Amino acid sequence: MPNQRTRLIAGNWKMNKTYSEGVTLAQDLAYKLSENTDGVEVVVCPPFTDLKGVQSVMEMDAAPFHLGAQNVYWQESGAYTGEISCDMLKNVGCTYCIVGHSERRDYFGETDQDINKKIKALLSAGIKPISCCGESLEVREANNQVAFVVNQIKEDFKDVTLKSGDDVVVAYEPIWAIGTGKTATPEDAQEVCGAIRETLRDIFGADIADGIRILYGGSAKPENIAGFLECEDVDGALVGGASLKADDFSLMVERSV
Ligand code: PGA
Repeated sequence: MPNQRTRLIAGNWKMNKTYSEGVTLAQDLAYKLSENTDGVEVVVCPPFTDLKGVQSVMEMDAAPFHLGAQNVYWQESGAYTGEISCDMLKNVGCTYCIVGHSERRDYFGETDQDINKKIKALLSAGIKPISCCGESLEVREANNQVAFVVNQIKEDFKDVTLKSGDDVVVAYEPIWAIGTGKTATPEDAQEVCGAIRETLRDIFGADIADGIRILYGGSAKPENIAGFLECEDVDGALVGGASLKADDFSLMVERSV
């Protein structure tokens, strides 16, 4: 039986696009996506400074996408210079938030414990976490990718309660494939995404786990998206580089319909 999960294509703009560039990209996307998102959910995750501008475009152009942030801090408010809370994200219209991206783990020292706190804070605020996991080249070369990612999932979702599988999204992003042009094969993706699904079943039970969307990320582009979507446990993509061009990103959405 084909699964009932709605495909999801999420764009991670990373540290790209000033406010005005972000507004232009959002307008282009709203225009290009207006006809071809049937049955596919689309999320764009701009930098914090662009969120309000992209939200205004979404409202004015009835854009067929949701708004996501790239990071959050788990405390509610207070003396945490430079940080952004769940409430702040909610107030500018975010319904999704990426957590645990490998760039945050590697460059900013985020741990699975931090990610776990962020997931819990987002869920309490009613924002859906897009929780990232993935192995380094070293781990892949030692053929330890499954054990490594399964452990990340267990740590990141420790003591997390979900009402439904729709509450969270998991993104499997092998670090060696991010921004490098090297993609994992669909078989590589399915091997790990299948193991992620099994782990989620152990944690949350099959009813909930079978409703959780698992995305592939790492040099995903219009040319290779179809292959990943054929995998049983891949329900979409988290797209970096190719999400910065409205043509490429909308083509990826179109090819996911
Ligand atoms: P990429 O980035 O598509 O540019 O490889 C993906 C990501 O890091 O989310």
